[in-house]
Amino acid sequence: MAPAEPTLPPPPPEAAEHSRVLAERIAEAIVAEGDWMPFSRFMEMALYEPGLGYYAAGARKFGAEGDFITAPEVSPLFARCIALQARQVLEATGGPILELGPGSGVLAADLFAELLSQGAAPQTYLMLEPSPDLRERQQRLIAERHPQHRDHFTWITELPPKLRGFVIANEVLDVVPCALVRRDGDKYLERGVALTDAGFAWDDQPMAPGSDLERRVEAAFPPGDYDYLSEVNLAAEGLVRTIAASLEAGVAIFIDYGFAEREYYHPQRSMGTMRCHYRHRFHGDPFFLPGLQDITAHVDFTAMAKAAEAAGADVLGFTTQAYFLISCGLAVMVSAGDPTMTLSRLQSTSAVHRLISPAEMGELFKVLAIGRGFDAPLLGFQSARPLQL
Ligand SMILES: C[S@@+](CC[C@H](N)C(=O)[O-])C[C@H]1O[C@@H](n2cnc3c(N)ncnc32)[C@H](O)[C@@H]1O
Repeated sequence: MAPAEPTLPPPPPEAAEHSRVLAERIAEAIVAEGDWMPFSRFMEMALYEPGLGYYAAGARKFGAEGDFITAPEVSPLFARCIALQARQVLEATGGPILELGPGSGVLAADLFAELLSQGAAPQTYLMLEPSPDLRERQQRLIAERHPQHRDHFTWITELPPKLRGFVIANEVLDVVPCALVRRDGDKYLERGVALTDAGFAWDDQPMAPGSDLERRVEAAFPPGDYDYLSEVNLAAEGLVRTIAASLEAGVAIFIDYGFAEREYYHPQRSMGTMRCHYRHRFHGDPFFLPGLQDITAHVDFTAMAKAAEAAGADVLGFTTQAYFLISCGLAVMVSAGDPTMTLSRLQSTSAVHRLISPAEMGELFKVLAIGRGFDAPLLGFQSARPLQL
């Protein structure tokens, strides 16, 4: 539909056809929904439309051959740090590990392997994965990596009503469909998508007065009457609230790129944080090849923490990924490696650099811990510099 940005590599013909079919499906929905759809609905269809959306269908997504790389794909040291944090929680609360959005399944495989090597593997590792394609990939990886322990893993498509144990969600909240809101003078408009002869186009509409979205932006946007565009993710808050409400005893850790509210809605961040990922290029056009690229937005961690507290959970920590991993013992793990294995040592040093360097994932990525019935200081925050929410 919308013309491709010239610098982005063209897809092979069958992928282009796949995208065309999804774009047509979205166009039909726009017409059926009154010639306009909110951006959140566009993002939902582009990512999750059954059989066609980016996460619902077979695009490769992760790793060097895909569109982006996540921390568990960078190095198994990430999973080893999470394993130590999980172990501390599980020793106190019992119960399973629940991973939200396990992607390729590599975090689950590495985390379980680490706990197994410590004699601390959980009886049950739950994987909540809405994408049938990814579920299959995860099942294949677990069968390959843990053939003797396959029965420890269970795939679910809905959150259990009651949760006990350790919950981990890495880079999940940023792909939950968000609303885009634009302030134009003294008016707030919800940004949506309409159809033109040239394809999809932005179309901003007045918001329903008194809606949750309107109340939120009035409170969160920086004062002033200058043009300002940002995201609000009520659905991600809903997800955190549901997890917090179902936690009977345990800890949930959310890792993602984002900021506390005052930095998120900084006056200078007037164009928002929504970004698309296509073959390791980042750009701002969500209409480019729907179904073949990821669409994400940074996470407002203050909103997530408030959602958890509103459901009766405690906020147990908020820091950068770098501080969290170091507090979990990352530096010790690297220096304890066999010094004669120079190559693997060097590889892990460059992976560690990627995980903790402020120029890479170390500072932009944050870690938020919420919990209930867990009073001890969490390992990952014990020696970490706390950030303000
Ligand atoms: C960017 S990938 C991250 C994958 C993996 N956690 C990693 O770090 O490599 C996002 C994952 O979240 C899943 N996802 C999207 N919405 C979700 C939801 N509401 N609940 C659970 N998982 C979700 C996607 O299908 C995908 O597996």
